[in-house]
Amino acid sequence: MKSSKNKIEEFIRVDHAGERGAVKIYEGQLLALNTFVKDENLKKVIEEMKVHEKEHCEFFETEIKKRKIKPTLFLPLWDLLGVGLGFGSTLLGKKAAMLCTASVEEVIDEHYQNQINQLGSDEKN
Ligand SMILES: [Fe+2]
Repeated sequence: MKSSKNKIEEFIRVDHAGERGAVKIYEGQLLALNTFVKDENLKKVIEEMKVHEKEHCEFFETEIKKRKIKPTLFLPLWDLLGVGLGFGSTLLGKKAAMLCTASVEEVIDEHYQNQINQLGSDEKN
């Protein structure tokens, strides 16, 4: 059985990778929107979403440093997959891009709720 500290470290490691992955997906989408796909409205929406994801990612980066947690070794692979997924889904069109984004957000919401349910009140933040 994992200690509470280990569990929280694992949560933060996974959350950090997830938020960074989200930033990379948006970067991939913006790459497509700055090259092959011309859609200024979608670009604006994605840019805004990327700002939020960057805030989330920075939160976990601070936590990782503060708590001296090792980030996952798979980060470079994660980056590559995120950019590829964002780029590829946006090449398919606006619907595919938004479907990709909405699906990721839905999974993340569930994931965080699941973690919250497992945390004690001292780690509410
Ligand atoms: Fe996020």
